[in-house]
Amino acid sequence: MYQLSINGMTHQEFLENYWQKKPLLIKGGFTDFEDPLTAEELAGLAMEEAIESRLVTNHEGNWQAHHGPFEDFSKLTDSHSTLLVQAVDHWHPPAAELLAPFRFIPNWRIDDLMISFSTPHGGVGPHLDQYDVFIIQGQGKRRWRVGLPDASLKQFAKDKALLQVEQFEAIIDHELESGDILYIPPGCPHEGYAVENALNYSVGFRAPDQKDLISSFADHVIDEEAGKLRYSDTDLNLRDSIGEICEDDKSRVRELLNSLVNNEALYSHWLGTFLSQPKHDMDLAPLEDALVADFLEDEINPEDVINRAGGVRALYQLVDNEILLSINGETYRIAEKHLEQVKLLTDETFFSFNEVKPALNCLEFKQTLTTLINDGLYYVEAWS
Ligand code: SIN
Ligand code: CO
Repeated sequence: MYQLSINGMTHQEFLENYWQKKPLLIKGGFTDFEDPLTAEELAGLAMEEAIESRLVTNHEGNWQAHHGPFEDFSKLTDSHSTLLVQAVDHWHPPAAELLAPFRFIPNWRIDDLMISFSTPHGGVGPHLDQYDVFIIQGQGKRRWRVGLPDASLKQFAKDKALLQVEQFEAIIDHELESGDILYIPPGCPHEGYAVENALNYSVGFRAPDQKDLISSFADHVIDEEAGKLRYSDTDLNLRDSIGEICEDDKSRVRELLNSLVNNEALYSHWLGTFLSQPKHDMDLAPLEDALVADFLEDEINPEDVINRAGGVRALYQLVDNEILLSINGETYRIAEKHLEQVKLLTDETFFSFNEVKPALNCLEFKQTLTTLINDGLYYVEAWS
């Protein structure tokens, strides 16, 4: 288990003073940090078709990016190279444990754990990210520079798919050692170069932009066959100009649009479904012999542990005295009185079967849990 300490701050103090505000060097954030995997294991993951990986080299100032999966690692040279593997938490349970200390931030904001291995002088160059990130230093040392957002900084593509930013003034310039952590808010320029072979773990976050939201919401409206209300103007009067779209017309159209977003049932169902959608491939093992909801209690021992599979996104909302439980893009309705058990599915990454038993008399809960286990989103580990 990883124990995070943020320079003596409480989580609340960190959120108030740094989250989305300014970068922070967390010296010794993890004491006696142990890497959850080796560089060789990381390379093994980068050979998998379903896992997104990149290899970046910067020999003599010549930046090149190569996309995985990799069959060999000849480009991962003794210096000036970095291998980056996305969403390792989806595939490697011990690595997924590194997310646990950051779970004071809501589930839906957490994206994935990216892991990089860099040889001396290796890095991805100066760049900006759209999202918050905590970068944990594992094995080895890496010198990191971080600046403040600066709209005048120009971005350019060094190689296709390798966007960099021009040189920036650093407010943090530090050689990170094992267990040190950097918090970097969106838009802060940063660059890190390995001093010796180094592993870095990036806890990345999600923040949808308006275009993602509107296009997904529009898809939902179409799927649900909603949005049938049509423009009407029973109070239309003669106008001086027939060419004008006047203020009243504009506000009526805006109201028509707003009424869809303000439709609580439609909006909540879409939001949970959208925010719980996975972005990366998952390593799920659906059961070969599917469980039957009515026999769940015969098949699972009370002490057995139910684990949430790596990368599964589990969220809930309370809407009209009901719980909308959204897991990996599917939304289920459950009676509000089972909130405690629903929270086990969303707020915990594992729990004992015994703890959910009080909700098994609810058909919807029992059916939902059975489906989630059958699909491999949650898996049973026999108590030993
Ligand atoms: C890296 O680990 O090389 C990249 C991490 C980052 O800059 O976001
Ligand atoms: Co970055």
